[in-house]
Amino acid sequence: MKFYNYKKLYRNKFSKNILENLKTGEFILGKEVFKLENNLKKYLNVKDVITCGSATSALEIGILNLNLPPNSEIIVPSHTFIATINGIVSAGHSPIIADIDETGLIDVKKVKNYINKKTKAIICVNLNGMMCEMNKLKDICKKKNLYLIEESAQGFGAEYNNKKSGSFGIFSVFSFYPTKILGSFGDGGCIATNNNTLGKKIRTYANHGRFKGSVISDGTNSRLDNFQAMILNSNLKLINISIKKRIKLAKEYYLNFKENKNISFPFKNRKKINKYKDVFQNFEILVKKRNALKRFLNKRKIETLIQWKGVPVNKIKLKKIKLKNKYDGTNKYFKECLCLPIGDHVNKQQVKKISQAINDFYKKN
Ligand SMILES: Cc1ncc(COP(=O)(O)O)c(C=O)c1O
Repeated sequence: MKFYNYKKLYRNKFSKNILENLKTGEFILGKEVFKLENNLKKYLNVKDVITCGSATSALEIGILNLNLPPNSEIIVPSHTFIATINGIVSAGHSPIIADIDETGLIDVKKVKNYINKKTKAIICVNLNGMMCEMNKLKDICKKKNLYLIEESAQGFGAEYNNKKSGSFGIFSVFSFYPTKILGSFGDGGCIATNNNTLGKKIRTYANHGRFKGSVISDGTNSRLDNFQAMILNSNLKLINISIKKRIKLAKEYYLNFKENKNISFPFKNRKKINKYKDVFQNFEILVKKRNALKRFLNKRKIETLIQWKGVPVNKIKLKKIKLKNKYDGTNKYFKECLCLPIGDHVNKQQVKKISQAINDFYKKN
């Protein structure tokens, strides 16, 4: 059982569309791109969406266009991909690493500890298809006059209080990397915002600072190509089916492990609170004897994943990464976290088999 199965992302019905698309000669800033931006605007219920080359570059461009004082501090959780840190640093600022709680998301109770005069923004990372505690983060940002930025590379389709990820902060970013819930066949990402002025600035910036062909601001090249937009438009039509399937598979795993005291679920307590809709970009659980379990599953040809090779951002030895306080929540979480296969390439029988193998392991160990 593969953890990701890139080959299965291709569907035969793409062949005709791909050929037709290539024949149009529209490669950059073509109709499919604008169609996708409109489709995403409707889906996310936001005022503007600008497609970009990747989520990393979307984050960099978004932050640059907030015009913060150079070297401002931006709070970001420890459980994220290095991409989030790179986006902040490329925009000329300092990432301040915050601890996480048992959900694997930024610990809102600790956020105030990281704020000082240089702090200008909090980036909440909606990891594993789970949204952060948005109301509390919004309150803190309002009180302390900080921007809230949603890093939703793994959060497409997730909801909080019936509102989709993407519409809570000053802007949000999404990744269309092939394995994401909404994935393309290459790199890609977007920025969503409810601030029209910021949206216009970002759109210009991402296209070399040009507006109707004339240069009017600084800029760079971060554009999604028409071909990827076509794939994304097609995949977006199936997004509700895809998300429903992930939720169903997650429920199946959860039921199979209900009696297993060696396993706990970062999302468990959220199920009781109606405000979250988790969409399981990853099915990340906390397991005892994690490394031995992973080896055991490997021998049975079941691939699993420890995100970031088990190294949270606070443990990466790079000068640009600034630490503050302790990381107890992170240390605890990273001893046990493990992602099991989930997605369009996984079926109920496979989940049963994987669950059985895991339950067998704990009977023997
Ligand atoms: C949490 C997180 N942030 C950022 C990224 C980067 O996205 P992209 O590859 O589109 O730059 C990823 C992609 O894997 C991610 O999982």
